[in-house]
Amino acid sequence: MNSETEKIVEFKIHRYDPEADRHYVSTFKVPVKKGMTLLDALLYIKDNFDETLAFRYSCRMGQCGSCGIMVNGKPMLACYTQVLHLNADTLVIEPLPNMPIIKDLVVDIEPFFEKFKLIRPILIKPQEELKKLVEFAQLPDELKKYWDLTLCIKCSICYAACPAVIDERFLGPSALATNYRFLTDSRDQGADLRLRAIADNLWLCTSCNSCTLFCPKEVDASSSVVEERSLIVETGNIPRTVMDVLTSVMRYHNPMGRYPTKRMEWAEGLNLKTYPQVTKADVLYFVCCLTAYDTRHQEIAKSMASLFNRLGIDFAVLGNEEWCCGDHILRLGEKGLFEELAEHNVSMFKKFEANRIVTLSPHCYDAFKNQKPYSDMGLNVQHYTQLLADAIEKGKLAPSKPINKKVTYHDPCFLGKRNGIFEEPRKILESIKGLELVEMKRNRENSFCCGGGAGRVWTEDALVEKRPCVNRVKEALDLGVEVIATACPFCVSTLEDATKVLDVENKIVVKDIAELVKEAL
Ligand code: FES
Repeated sequence: MNSETEKIVEFKIHRYDPEADRHYVSTFKVPVKKGMTLLDALLYIKDNFDETLAFRYSCRMGQCGSCGIMVNGKPMLACYTQVLHLNADTLVIEPLPNMPIIKDLVVDIEPFFEKFKLIRPILIKPQEELKKLVEFAQLPDELKKYWDLTLCIKCSICYAACPAVIDERFLGPSALATNYRFLTDSRDQGADLRLRAIADNLWLCTSCNSCTLFCPKEVDASSSVVEERSLIVETGNIPRTVMDVLTSVMRYHNPMGRYPTKRMEWAEGLNLKTYPQVTKADVLYFVCCLTAYDTRHQEIAKSMASLFNRLGIDFAVLGNEEWCCGDHILRLGEKGLFEELAEHNVSMFKKFEANRIVTLSPHCYDAFKNQKPYSDMGLNVQHYTQLLADAIEKGKLAPSKPINKKVTYHDPCFLGKRNGIFEEPRKILESIKGLELVEMKRNRENSFCCGGGAGRVWTEDALVEKRPCVNRVKEALDLGVEVIATACPFCVSTLEDATKVLDVENKIVVKDIAELVKEAL
Protein backbone atom coordinates (compact mmCIF):
# COMPACT_ATOMS: atom_id res chain seq x y z
CA MET A 1 0.00 0.00 0.00
CA ASN A 2 1.73 3.22 -1.04
CA SER A 3 1.62 6.31 1.15
CA GLU A 4 -1.13 8.00 -0.87
CA THR A 5 -3.45 5.01 -0.63
CA GLU A 6 -6.38 5.69 1.71
CA LYS A 7 -7.81 2.19 1.63
CA ILE A 8 -8.06 -1.00 -0.39
CA VAL A 9 -11.49 -1.45 -1.94
CA GLU A 10 -12.71 -4.72 -3.40
CA PHE A 11 -14.40 -4.39 -6.79
CA LYS A 12 -16.72 -7.29 -7.65
CA ILE A 13 -17.45 -6.74 -11.31
CA HIS A 14 -20.32 -8.57 -13.02
CA ARG A 15 -19.16 -9.37 -16.53
CA TYR A 16 -20.49 -10.82 -19.74
CA ASP A 17 -18.53 -12.59 -22.43
CA PRO A 18 -20.65 -12.36 -25.61
CA GLU A 19 -18.59 -14.95 -27.50
CA ALA A 20 -19.14 -17.65 -24.90
CA ASP A 21 -22.51 -16.15 -23.86
CA ARG A 22 -21.23 -16.39 -20.28
CA HIS A 23 -21.96 -14.22 -17.24
CA TYR A 24 -19.32 -14.27 -14.52
CA VAL A 25 -17.87 -12.15 -11.71
CA SER A 26 -14.27 -10.89 -11.44
CA THR A 27 -12.90 -9.54 -8.18
CA PHE A 28 -10.10 -6.96 -7.95
CA LYS A 29 -8.53 -5.19 -4.99
CA VAL A 30 -7.89 -1.55 -5.83
CA PRO A 31 -5.70 0.82 -3.77
CA VAL A 32 -7.86 3.93 -3.59
CA LYS A 33 -6.39 7.41 -3.30
CA LYS A 34 -8.17 10.64 -2.36
CA GLY A 35 -10.22 11.96 -5.28
CA MET A 36 -10.11 8.69 -7.22
CA THR A 37 -13.31 8.22 -9.19
CA LEU A 38 -14.99 4.95 -10.06
CA LEU A 39 -13.80 5.47 -13.61
CA ASP A 40 -10.21 5.94 -12.38
CA ALA A 41 -10.60 2.66 -10.49
CA LEU A 42 -11.89 0.82 -13.57
CA LEU A 43 -8.98 2.22 -15.60
CA TYR A 44 -6.60 1.10 -12.85
CA ILE A 45 -8.04 -2.43 -13.05
CA LYS A 46 -7.68 -2.41 -16.83
CA ASP A 47 -4.08 -1.16 -16.68
CA ASN A 48 -2.93 -3.40 -13.83
CA PHE A 49 -5.07 -6.55 -13.71
CA ASP A 50 -7.18 -7.24 -16.76
CA GLU A 51 -6.92 -5.38 -20.01
CA THR A 52 -9.96 -7.18 -21.41
CA LEU A 53 -12.38 -5.47 -19.01
CA ALA A 54 -14.87 -3.49 -21.10
CA PHE A 55 -16.61 -0.29 -19.99
CA ARG A 56 -17.64 2.88 -21.73
CA TYR A 57 -16.39 6.42 -21.14
CA SER A 58 -15.40 9.51 -23.03
CA CYS A 59 -15.36 13.00 -21.48
CA ARG A 60 -14.36 11.97 -17.93
CA MET A 61 -16.14 15.04 -16.53
CA GLY A 62 -19.83 14.21 -16.29
CA GLN A 63 -20.76 15.68 -19.63
CA CYS A 64 -21.05 12.95 -22.27
CA GLY A 65 -23.20 10.62 -20.15
CA SER A 66 -21.50 7.48 -21.41
CA CYS A 67 -20.04 5.98 -18.22
CA GLY A 68 -23.20 4.92 -16.34
CA ILE A 69 -22.87 1.76 -14.22
CA MET A 70 -24.63 0.16 -11.27
CA VAL A 71 -22.72 0.38 -8.00
CA ASN A 72 -24.09 -1.59 -5.05
CA GLY A 73 -27.47 -1.54 -6.76
CA LYS A 74 -27.55 2.18 -7.57
CA PRO A 75 -27.07 3.68 -11.03
CA MET A 76 -24.40 6.38 -11.25
CA LEU A 77 -21.82 7.98 -13.52
CA ALA A 78 -18.41 6.35 -13.01
CA CYS A 79 -16.48 9.53 -13.77
CA TYR A 80 -18.66 11.66 -11.51
CA THR A 81 -18.45 9.57 -8.33
CA GLN A 82 -15.51 9.36 -5.98
CA VAL A 83 -14.83 5.89 -4.58
CA LEU A 84 -14.20 7.14 -1.03
CA HIS A 85 -17.53 9.00 -1.02
CA LEU A 86 -19.28 5.62 -1.33
CA ASN A 87 -17.93 4.68 2.08
CA ALA A 88 -17.73 0.95 1.31
CA ASP A 89 -15.06 -1.74 1.46
CA THR A 90 -16.67 -3.76 -1.31
CA LEU A 91 -18.33 -2.41 -4.42
CA VAL A 92 -20.49 -4.61 -6.60
CA ILE A 93 -20.30 -3.19 -10.11
CA GLU A 94 -22.89 -4.18 -12.71
CA PRO A 95 -24.00 -2.91 -16.11
CA LEU A 96 -27.08 -0.64 -16.21
CA PRO A 97 -30.35 -2.63 -16.33
CA ASN A 98 -33.22 -2.18 -18.81
CA MET A 99 -30.81 -2.25 -21.77
CA PRO A 100 -29.14 -5.25 -23.48
CA ILE A 101 -25.56 -6.00 -22.36
CA ILE A 102 -22.95 -5.91 -25.13
CA LYS A 103 -19.89 -6.87 -23.10
CA ASP A 104 -19.01 -6.59 -19.39
CA LEU A 105 -20.25 -3.11 -18.31
CA VAL A 106 -21.09 -1.88 -21.80
CA VAL A 107 -24.81 -1.82 -22.59
CA ASP A 108 -26.63 -1.02 -25.80
CA ILE A 109 -28.20 2.40 -25.15
CA GLU A 110 -30.17 2.34 -28.40
CA PRO A 111 -33.52 1.53 -26.66
CA PHE A 112 -33.06 4.67 -24.55
CA PHE A 113 -32.37 6.95 -27.53
CA GLU A 114 -35.07 5.32 -29.68
CA LYS A 115 -37.70 6.93 -27.43
CA PHE A 116 -36.43 10.43 -28.21
CA LYS A 117 -37.42 10.05 -31.85
CA LEU A 118 -41.06 10.19 -30.79
CA ILE A 119 -40.79 13.54 -29.07
CA ARG A 120 -38.62 15.55 -31.54
CA PRO A 121 -36.01 16.85 -29.03
CA ILE A 122 -35.37 20.04 -30.99
CA LEU A 123 -37.19 23.34 -31.11
CA ILE A 124 -40.05 23.15 -33.56
CA LYS A 125 -39.90 26.57 -35.19
CA PRO A 126 -42.35 28.25 -37.53
CA GLN A 127 -40.79 29.05 -40.91
CA GLU A 128 -41.35 32.80 -40.70
CA GLU A 129 -39.67 32.92 -37.30
CA LEU A 130 -36.61 31.22 -38.68
CA LYS A 131 -36.08 34.22 -40.88
CA LYS A 132 -35.94 36.68 -38.00
CA LEU A 133 -33.84 34.99 -35.38
CA VAL A 134 -33.43 38.10 -33.26
CA GLU A 135 -37.15 38.25 -32.46
CA PHE A 136 -37.04 34.53 -31.87
CA ALA A 137 -34.64 34.94 -28.96
CA GLN A 138 -35.85 34.21 -25.48
CA LEU A 139 -35.87 36.27 -22.30
CA PRO A 140 -33.57 34.95 -19.53
CA ASP A 141 -36.50 34.94 -17.10
CA GLU A 142 -38.35 32.43 -19.18
CA LEU A 143 -35.32 30.18 -19.35
CA LYS A 144 -35.41 29.91 -15.55
CA LYS A 145 -38.66 27.93 -15.81
CA TYR A 146 -36.97 24.96 -17.40
CA TRP A 147 -33.30 25.60 -16.73
CA ASP A 148 -32.79 22.44 -14.69
CA LEU A 149 -34.28 20.36 -17.51
CA THR A 150 -31.59 21.62 -19.89
CA LEU A 151 -28.98 20.07 -17.59
CA CYS A 152 -29.95 16.53 -18.64
CA ILE A 153 -26.96 14.87 -20.33
CA LYS A 154 -28.92 11.85 -21.64
CA CYS A 155 -26.84 9.39 -19.64
CA SER A 156 -29.74 6.90 -19.32
CA ILE A 157 -29.28 6.59 -15.55
CA CYS A 158 -32.96 7.48 -15.04
CA TYR A 159 -33.94 4.93 -17.68
CA ALA A 160 -31.95 2.26 -15.84
CA ALA A 161 -33.66 3.19 -12.56
CA CYS A 162 -37.20 3.40 -13.95
CA PRO A 163 -39.68 0.58 -13.17
CA ALA A 164 -42.11 1.71 -15.87
CA VAL A 165 -39.74 1.15 -18.81
CA ILE A 166 -40.19 -2.61 -18.55
CA ASP A 167 -43.21 -1.74 -20.71
CA GLU A 168 -41.67 -0.53 -23.96
CA ARG A 169 -44.62 1.83 -24.59
CA PHE A 170 -43.24 4.11 -21.88
CA LEU A 171 -40.89 6.79 -23.20
CA GLY A 172 -38.82 7.00 -20.04
CA PRO A 173 -38.06 9.88 -17.67
CA SER A 174 -35.41 11.65 -19.74
CA ALA A 175 -37.44 11.75 -22.96
CA LEU A 176 -40.51 12.94 -21.04
CA ALA A 177 -38.54 15.62 -19.19
CA THR A 178 -37.03 16.77 -22.49
CA ASN A 179 -40.49 16.92 -24.00
CA TYR A 180 -41.66 19.09 -21.11
CA ARG A 181 -38.63 21.34 -21.55
CA PHE A 182 -39.88 22.13 -25.07
CA LEU A 183 -43.51 22.39 -23.98
CA THR A 184 -42.57 25.19 -21.58
CA ASP A 185 -40.45 27.04 -24.16
CA SER A 186 -42.49 29.84 -25.71
CA ARG A 187 -40.43 29.62 -28.89
CA ASP A 188 -41.48 26.04 -29.52
CA GLN A 189 -44.48 25.59 -31.79
CA GLY A 190 -44.88 21.84 -31.39
CA ALA A 191 -47.27 21.58 -28.41
CA ASP A 192 -49.85 19.50 -30.33
CA LEU A 193 -47.27 17.03 -31.53
CA ARG A 194 -45.62 16.84 -28.13
CA LEU A 195 -48.84 16.20 -26.24
CA ARG A 196 -49.94 13.60 -28.79
CA ALA A 197 -46.62 11.75 -28.43
CA ILE A 198 -47.07 11.27 -24.70
CA ALA A 199 -50.86 11.13 -24.26
CA ASP A 200 -51.18 7.34 -24.21
CA ASN A 201 -48.03 6.29 -22.32
CA LEU A 202 -47.48 9.05 -19.77
CA TRP A 203 -49.83 7.29 -17.34
CA LEU A 204 -47.41 4.38 -16.95
CA CYS A 205 -45.14 6.51 -14.73
CA THR A 206 -45.68 5.52 -11.08
CA SER A 207 -44.15 8.68 -9.54
CA CYS A 208 -41.72 6.43 -7.65
CA ASN A 209 -39.13 9.20 -7.92
CA SER A 210 -36.19 6.92 -8.82
CA CYS A 211 -35.33 9.05 -11.86
CA THR A 212 -35.05 12.22 -9.80
CA LEU A 213 -33.28 10.46 -6.95
CA PHE A 214 -30.48 9.03 -9.07
CA CYS A 215 -30.05 11.77 -11.67
CA PRO A 216 -26.40 12.92 -11.49
CA LYS A 217 -27.47 16.41 -12.59
CA GLU A 218 -30.42 16.62 -10.16
CA VAL A 219 -32.95 17.01 -12.93
CA ASP A 220 -36.45 16.53 -11.50
CA ALA A 221 -37.87 14.37 -14.27
CA SER A 222 -40.53 12.96 -11.95
CA SER A 223 -42.15 16.37 -11.42
CA SER A 224 -42.02 17.22 -15.11
CA VAL A 225 -44.09 14.09 -15.83
CA VAL A 226 -46.73 15.38 -13.40
CA GLU A 227 -46.66 18.78 -15.13
CA GLU A 228 -47.18 17.11 -18.52
CA ARG A 229 -50.09 15.11 -17.14
CA SER A 230 -51.54 18.36 -15.91
CA LEU A 231 -51.40 19.79 -19.44
CA ILE A 232 -53.06 16.68 -20.82
CA VAL A 233 -55.76 16.68 -18.13
CA GLU A 234 -56.56 20.26 -19.22
CA THR A 235 -57.19 19.02 -22.78
CA GLY A 236 -59.59 16.37 -21.44
CA ASN A 237 -57.96 13.78 -23.72
CA ILE A 238 -57.28 11.24 -20.97
CA PRO A 239 -57.77 7.47 -20.79
CA ARG A 240 -61.15 6.22 -19.57
CA THR A 241 -59.57 4.61 -16.50
CA VAL A 242 -57.94 7.87 -15.43
CA MET A 243 -61.18 9.75 -16.06
CA ASP A 244 -63.05 7.25 -13.86
CA VAL A 245 -60.66 7.79 -10.95
CA LEU A 246 -60.90 11.57 -11.23
CA THR A 247 -64.69 11.51 -11.55
CA SER A 248 -65.03 9.26 -8.49
CA VAL A 249 -62.90 11.57 -6.40
CA MET A 250 -64.77 14.61 -7.67
CA ARG A 251 -68.14 13.10 -6.77
CA TYR A 252 -67.40 10.98 -3.72
CA HIS A 253 -64.04 12.21 -2.38
CA ASN A 254 -62.52 8.78 -2.81
CA PRO A 255 -61.08 7.13 -5.93
CA MET A 256 -63.24 4.02 -5.62
CA GLY A 257 -66.52 5.81 -6.19
CA ARG A 258 -67.96 4.67 -2.86
CA TYR A 259 -70.43 6.75 -0.88
CA PRO A 260 -68.76 9.03 1.70
CA THR A 261 -71.41 7.92 4.19
CA LYS A 262 -69.98 4.37 4.03
CA ARG A 263 -66.47 5.45 4.92
CA MET A 264 -66.73 4.21 8.50
CA GLU A 265 -68.12 0.76 7.65
CA TRP A 266 -64.68 -0.74 8.31
CA ALA A 267 -64.94 0.29 11.97
CA GLU A 268 -68.37 -1.17 12.67
CA GLY A 269 -68.49 -2.53 16.20
CA LEU A 270 -65.15 -0.96 17.16
CA ASN A 271 -66.74 1.99 18.89
CA LEU A 272 -64.06 4.42 17.74
CA LYS A 273 -63.96 8.04 18.76
CA THR A 274 -65.13 9.87 15.66
CA TYR A 275 -65.50 13.47 14.50
CA PRO A 276 -67.76 15.47 15.07
CA GLN A 277 -68.73 13.74 18.33
CA VAL A 278 -65.07 13.98 19.36
CA THR A 279 -62.89 16.95 18.39
CA LYS A 280 -59.78 16.28 20.45
CA ALA A 281 -57.39 13.34 20.87
CA ASP A 282 -53.69 12.63 21.19
CA VAL A 283 -53.59 10.97 17.76
CA LEU A 284 -55.70 11.65 14.71
CA TYR A 285 -55.69 8.35 12.80
CA PHE A 286 -55.88 9.08 9.04
CA VAL A 287 -57.13 5.83 7.56
CA CYS A 288 -56.84 6.32 3.72
CA CYS A 289 -59.52 5.57 1.11
CA LEU A 290 -58.30 2.12 0.10
CA THR A 291 -58.11 0.85 3.68
CA ALA A 292 -61.46 2.37 4.60
CA TYR A 293 -63.46 0.94 1.70
CA ASP A 294 -61.79 -2.22 0.39
CA THR A 295 -62.75 -5.30 2.39
CA ARG A 296 -59.27 -6.85 2.18
CA HIS A 297 -57.65 -3.62 3.34
CA GLN A 298 -60.16 -3.00 6.10
CA GLU A 299 -58.30 -5.75 7.96
CA ILE A 300 -55.21 -3.48 7.97
CA ALA A 301 -57.25 -0.52 9.24
CA LYS A 302 -58.66 -2.69 12.02
CA SER A 303 -55.23 -4.10 12.91
CA MET A 304 -53.87 -0.60 13.38
CA ALA A 305 -56.87 0.44 15.50
CA SER A 306 -56.26 -2.55 17.76
CA LEU A 307 -52.57 -1.62 18.02
CA PHE A 308 -53.49 1.90 19.13
CA ASN A 309 -55.72 0.36 21.79
CA ARG A 310 -53.01 -2.06 22.84
CA LEU A 311 -50.62 0.88 23.27
CA GLY A 312 -53.22 2.78 25.27
CA ILE A 313 -53.11 5.67 22.80
CA ASP A 314 -55.97 8.13 22.85
CA PHE A 315 -56.92 8.24 19.16
CA ALA A 316 -59.81 9.32 16.97
CA VAL A 317 -60.77 9.39 13.30
CA LEU A 318 -62.37 12.00 11.08
CA GLY A 319 -65.05 9.54 9.97
CA ASN A 320 -67.04 10.66 6.94
CA GLU A 321 -65.17 13.97 6.98
CA GLU A 322 -61.90 12.25 6.04
CA TRP A 323 -61.50 12.91 2.33
CA CYS A 324 -58.93 11.40 0.02
CA CYS A 325 -55.55 13.01 0.79
CA GLY A 326 -55.27 13.65 -2.96
CA ASP A 327 -51.77 12.30 -3.54
CA HIS A 328 -52.73 10.06 -6.47
CA ILE A 329 -54.86 12.85 -7.88
CA LEU A 330 -51.99 15.31 -7.75
CA ARG A 331 -49.67 12.82 -9.45
CA LEU A 332 -52.28 12.23 -12.12
CA GLY A 333 -52.04 15.94 -12.88
CA GLU A 334 -55.43 17.14 -11.55
CA LYS A 335 -54.01 19.94 -9.44
CA GLY A 336 -57.34 21.77 -8.97
CA LEU A 337 -59.02 18.68 -7.56
CA PHE A 338 -56.05 17.98 -5.31
CA GLU A 339 -56.33 21.51 -3.90
CA GLU A 340 -60.03 21.03 -3.23
CA LEU A 341 -59.37 17.80 -1.32
CA ALA A 342 -56.44 19.30 0.55
CA GLU A 343 -58.37 22.42 1.54
CA HIS A 344 -61.13 20.27 3.03
CA ASN A 345 -58.69 18.09 4.99
CA VAL A 346 -56.74 21.14 6.12
CA SER A 347 -59.97 22.71 7.41
CA MET A 348 -60.68 19.49 9.32
CA PHE A 349 -57.18 19.44 10.80
CA LYS A 350 -57.84 22.97 12.04
CA LYS A 351 -61.13 21.94 13.63
CA PHE A 352 -59.67 18.83 15.25
CA GLU A 353 -57.22 19.22 18.07
CA ALA A 354 -54.54 16.51 17.92
CA ASN A 355 -50.90 16.29 18.92
CA ARG A 356 -50.07 14.27 15.83
CA ILE A 357 -51.57 12.69 12.77
CA VAL A 358 -50.73 9.04 12.14
CA THR A 359 -51.26 7.69 8.64
CA LEU A 360 -51.56 4.13 7.40
CA SER A 361 -50.58 5.07 3.89
CA PRO A 362 -47.20 6.52 2.91
CA HIS A 363 -49.08 8.51 0.24
CA CYS A 364 -51.12 10.40 2.87
CA TYR A 365 -47.91 10.79 4.89
CA ASP A 366 -46.04 12.30 1.95
CA ALA A 367 -48.90 14.62 1.02
CA PHE A 368 -49.27 15.97 4.57
CA LYS A 369 -45.55 16.41 5.00
CA ASN A 370 -44.41 17.66 1.63
CA GLN A 371 -47.30 19.09 -0.39
CA LYS A 372 -48.84 22.52 -0.04
CA PRO A 373 -51.26 23.50 1.48
CA TYR A 374 -50.78 20.64 3.97
CA SER A 375 -47.06 21.32 4.42
CA ASP A 376 -47.76 24.98 5.24
CA MET A 377 -49.52 23.82 8.41
CA GLY A 378 -46.33 22.27 9.79
CA LEU A 379 -48.29 19.18 10.83
CA ASN A 380 -46.79 16.70 13.24
CA VAL A 381 -47.31 13.66 11.03
CA GLN A 382 -46.07 10.12 11.50
CA HIS A 383 -46.29 7.02 9.40
CA TYR A 384 -47.56 4.18 11.56
CA THR A 385 -44.27 2.28 11.19
CA GLN A 386 -42.50 5.16 12.93
CA LEU A 387 -44.95 4.99 15.82
CA LEU A 388 -44.67 1.20 16.16
CA ALA A 389 -40.87 1.12 15.84
CA ASP A 390 -40.64 3.74 18.57
CA ALA A 391 -43.05 1.81 20.82
CA ILE A 392 -41.03 -1.39 20.33
CA GLU A 393 -37.76 0.39 21.03
CA LYS A 394 -39.15 1.88 24.24
CA GLY A 395 -40.45 -1.53 25.33
CA LYS A 396 -44.10 -0.47 25.14
CA LEU A 397 -44.87 -3.11 22.56
CA ALA A 398 -43.38 -6.60 22.47
CA PRO A 399 -44.52 -8.89 19.67
CA SER A 400 -43.96 -12.13 21.58
CA LYS A 401 -45.99 -14.69 19.64
CA PRO A 402 -43.62 -16.29 17.13
CA ILE A 403 -44.19 -16.07 13.38
CA ASN A 404 -41.90 -18.78 12.09
CA LYS A 405 -41.70 -17.60 8.53
CA LYS A 406 -39.18 -16.38 6.01
CA VAL A 407 -40.23 -12.84 5.18
CA THR A 408 -38.95 -10.15 2.84
CA TYR A 409 -39.77 -6.47 3.06
CA HIS A 410 -40.85 -4.42 0.07
CA ASP A 411 -40.04 -0.71 0.51
CA PRO A 412 -43.00 1.48 -0.53
CA CYS A 413 -41.60 4.30 -2.70
CA PHE A 414 -43.51 7.04 -0.90
CA LEU A 415 -42.14 5.87 2.42
CA GLY A 416 -38.59 5.02 1.38
CA LYS A 417 -37.42 6.83 -1.74
CA ARG A 418 -39.49 9.94 -1.06
CA ASN A 419 -39.17 10.16 2.73
CA GLY A 420 -36.13 8.13 3.72
CA ILE A 421 -38.04 5.80 6.06
CA PHE A 422 -36.16 2.54 5.51
CA GLU A 423 -35.16 1.24 8.93
CA GLU A 424 -38.31 1.54 11.07
CA PRO A 425 -40.29 -1.11 9.15
CA ARG A 426 -37.29 -3.45 9.30
CA LYS A 427 -36.85 -2.88 13.03
CA ILE A 428 -40.48 -3.85 13.59
CA LEU A 429 -40.12 -7.04 11.55
CA GLU A 430 -36.86 -7.94 13.29
CA SER A 431 -38.58 -7.62 16.66
CA ILE A 432 -41.03 -10.41 15.80
CA LYS A 433 -39.86 -13.73 17.24
CA GLY A 434 -39.20 -16.52 14.76
CA LEU A 435 -39.49 -14.21 11.77
CA GLU A 436 -36.52 -14.47 9.42
CA LEU A 437 -36.11 -11.24 7.49
CA VAL A 438 -34.30 -11.60 4.18
CA GLU A 439 -33.62 -8.75 1.78
CA MET A 440 -34.45 -8.71 -1.89
CA LYS A 441 -31.56 -7.63 -4.08
CA ARG A 442 -33.33 -4.36 -4.84
CA ASN A 443 -33.99 -2.82 -1.43
CA ARG A 444 -34.13 0.53 0.36
CA GLU A 445 -33.22 3.36 -2.06
CA ASN A 446 -32.78 0.85 -4.89
CA SER A 447 -36.10 -0.80 -4.23
CA PHE A 448 -38.21 -1.68 -7.25
CA CYS A 449 -41.58 0.06 -7.31
CA CYS A 450 -44.76 -2.08 -7.05
CA GLY A 451 -46.27 -0.01 -9.86
CA GLY A 452 -49.23 1.29 -7.88
CA GLY A 453 -48.33 4.98 -7.51
CA ALA A 454 -49.84 7.93 -9.37
CA GLY A 455 -53.20 6.20 -9.67
CA ARG A 456 -51.76 3.23 -11.58
CA VAL A 457 -53.20 0.94 -8.91
CA TRP A 458 -56.60 1.66 -10.52
CA THR A 459 -55.53 2.23 -14.12
CA GLU A 460 -53.13 -0.68 -14.76
CA ASP A 461 -53.43 -1.86 -18.35
CA ALA A 462 -49.99 -3.35 -19.03
CA LEU A 463 -49.53 -6.95 -20.11
CA VAL A 464 -48.83 -9.23 -17.15
CA GLU A 465 -45.08 -9.55 -17.80
CA LYS A 466 -44.74 -5.78 -18.04
CA ARG A 467 -46.33 -4.93 -14.70
CA PRO A 468 -43.84 -3.79 -12.06
CA CYS A 469 -45.75 -5.73 -9.37
CA VAL A 470 -45.30 -9.01 -11.25
CA ASN A 471 -41.59 -8.30 -11.68
CA ARG A 472 -41.35 -7.60 -7.94
CA VAL A 473 -43.22 -10.72 -6.80
CA LYS A 474 -40.95 -12.83 -9.01
CA GLU A 475 -37.96 -11.31 -7.23
CA ALA A 476 -39.46 -12.31 -3.87
CA LEU A 477 -40.29 -15.82 -5.15
CA ASP A 478 -36.66 -16.27 -6.20
CA LEU A 479 -35.68 -15.66 -2.57
CA GLY A 480 -37.93 -18.50 -1.43
CA VAL A 481 -39.83 -16.35 1.07
CA GLU A 482 -43.32 -17.16 2.28
CA VAL A 483 -44.39 -13.59 3.02
CA ILE A 484 -43.86 -10.21 1.39
CA ALA A 485 -44.31 -7.64 4.12
CA THR A 486 -44.90 -4.04 3.23
CA ALA A 487 -46.28 -0.88 4.80
CA CYS A 488 -48.56 0.65 2.20
CA PRO A 489 -52.10 -0.30 1.17
CA PHE A 490 -51.31 0.32 -2.50
CA CYS A 491 -48.28 -1.98 -2.41
CA VAL A 492 -50.40 -4.65 -0.71
CA SER A 493 -52.99 -4.28 -3.44
CA THR A 494 -50.67 -4.46 -6.45
CA LEU A 495 -48.43 -7.20 -5.05
CA GLU A 496 -51.42 -9.30 -4.05
CA ASP A 497 -52.82 -8.90 -7.57
CA ALA A 498 -49.49 -10.11 -8.91
CA THR A 499 -49.61 -13.27 -6.77
CA LYS A 500 -53.05 -13.99 -8.26
CA VAL A 501 -51.92 -13.28 -11.81
CA LEU A 502 -48.91 -15.56 -11.34
CA ASP A 503 -51.08 -18.15 -9.57
CA VAL A 504 -48.71 -18.37 -6.60
CA GLU A 505 -51.14 -17.47 -3.81
CA ASN A 506 -50.43 -20.83 -2.17
CA LYS A 507 -46.68 -20.13 -2.17
CA ILE A 508 -46.43 -16.52 -1.06
CA VAL A 509 -48.70 -14.07 0.75
CA VAL A 510 -48.60 -10.30 1.02
CA LYS A 511 -49.11 -8.75 4.45
CA ASP A 512 -49.04 -5.27 5.82
CA ILE A 513 -46.67 -4.88 8.78
CA ALA A 514 -49.61 -3.75 10.96
CA GLU A 515 -51.25 -7.13 10.31
CA LEU A 516 -48.06 -9.04 11.15
CA VAL A 517 -47.56 -7.13 14.40
CA LYS A 518 -51.16 -7.75 15.43
CA GLU A 519 -50.70 -11.45 14.63
CA ALA A 520 -47.56 -11.53 16.78
CA LEU A 521 -49.18 -10.07 19.89
FE1 FES B 1 -18.53 11.35 -19.87
FE2 FES B 1 -18.60 10.06 -17.53
S1 FES B 1 -17.20 9.81 -19.14
S2 FES B 1 -20.04 11.44 -18.31
